[in-house]
Amino acid sequence: MEVLEIKGGNQLSGTIRISGAKNSSVALIPASILTDEEVTLTNVPEIKDTDSLTDILEFLGAGVNRSTESMVIKPGSIDNKCIPEEYAKKLRASYYFMGAMLGKYKHAELYFPGGCSIGERPINLHLKGFEALGATVTNDGNKYIVDAKDLIGADIYLDIASVGATINIMLAAVLAKGTTVIENAAKEPEIVDVAVLLQSMGANISGAGTSTISITGVDRLHGCFHEVIPDRIEAGTYIIIGALAGNYLKIDNVIPKHLEALISKLEDMGVELDVGDDYIIVNRPDAYGTINIKTLGYPGFPTDLQQPFSVLLTQASGTSKIVETIWENRFMHIPYLNKMGADIETGHMSCRIYGPTPLTGADVEATDLRAGAAMVAAGLIANGTTTISNINHILRGYENIVTKLSDVGADIKIKEIEEEKN
Ligand code: EPU
Repeated sequence: MEVLEIKGGNQLSGTIRISGAKNSSVALIPASILTDEEVTLTNVPEIKDTDSLTDILEFLGAGVNRSTESMVIKPGSIDNKCIPEEYAKKLRASYYFMGAMLGKYKHAELYFPGGCSIGERPINLHLKGFEALGATVTNDGNKYIVDAKDLIGADIYLDIASVGATINIMLAAVLAKGTTVIENAAKEPEIVDVAVLLQSMGANISGAGTSTISITGVDRLHGCFHEVIPDRIEAGTYIIIGALAGNYLKIDNVIPKHLEALISKLEDMGVELDVGDDYIIVNRPDAYGTINIKTLGYPGFPTDLQQPFSVLLTQASGTSKIVETIWENRFMHIPYLNKMGADIETGHMSCRIYGPTPLTGADVEATDLRAGAAMVAAGLIANGTTTISNINHILRGYENIVTKLSDVGADIKIKEIEEEKN
């Protein structure tokens, strides 16, 4: 079994270049099948989630030419067939093929998607949106069959501003007849990125990035070239790591506007940041003030940074509180932080962190992607060696994490160890 081994305590200096956004790429790749023409995506991160989507494209019969950070997709030869369970289960975002196939072929068959076990993760709002457009949804065991004679634009109100439902409805609506209006749409930058790709393909969309998105269907979409935006969560993770161990650590290729909630909280804690046009330089301060955070949809504090941020709060002098409002199981990393010496009490979707507490290396687990990022952050400041198991979760979402951190001075490596036999 592969584990990540980190010897903590090193200062980190130099530059970390941020990759293309995972949560954009995983929607842009399925979106590309809405045309028959060639779509070139650049700045696509080389991570397991984009590999899994490439496998699905190839299974469907698309031509895919992948080189470092770019993907040329030729969807002209796709067969509209059921995406099997072993493909769908590898990641949450396989469900974007539902909206894209429905939009293009008026028929989609897909098994229930996989992804991190951070909460219940229903897809009722996606399905409600498809139904509003005129599709029928049947659930055959673990498989969804979504079918429509015609897709007709509709007004769709989302009771929760869901990222996935907003994107999936956009994908289904771009080739529908008439106008679709999504009210209480999610406003995340990844939604804007998907809308920009669709517009480059010839779609008629306005309002992406606000809570009302309007889509007027067109007859066909064409090929295009699109550059994926930088990953704000990867950037945020390394900025937090810089706040813990940075000595002039530059996080390059970022859009600081996408990170305002994090920047504001770090400044409140006394972390020194130099925010440039497309970079942020971060230094570890002598001491950290306590703060409270509450996760919210964009532009609020992102749930995906809450777990790495909790590591920073273990070093603040006093009591800090985190309230998680999006996912009910996003504190699975806390027992491992406590094992490393933190003093954290968890409640229902909240935790109280008493600091500062020195951390000591231990054997821990990446229970999900961002929990894994938290374990890496903790390992980097712990005394001694931290060994993280279940690292597949981390490699699903962070491109070249070992190289990026080693290059700025971290002692981190992937190691093969023998699995314990019961
Ligand atoms: N929800 C429903 N019904 C639905 C859809 C969502 O009740 O049909 C609920 C969810 O259970 C959750 C809330 O609405 O409580 C928000 O879920 P959302 O649909 O916005 O999340 P998602 O699209 O499944 C994406 C990211 C997550 C990120 C969330 C919130 C991708 C592939 N995933 O998930 O990223 O946490 O938005 O910002 O884009 C991660 O990268 O680690 C990650 C989990």
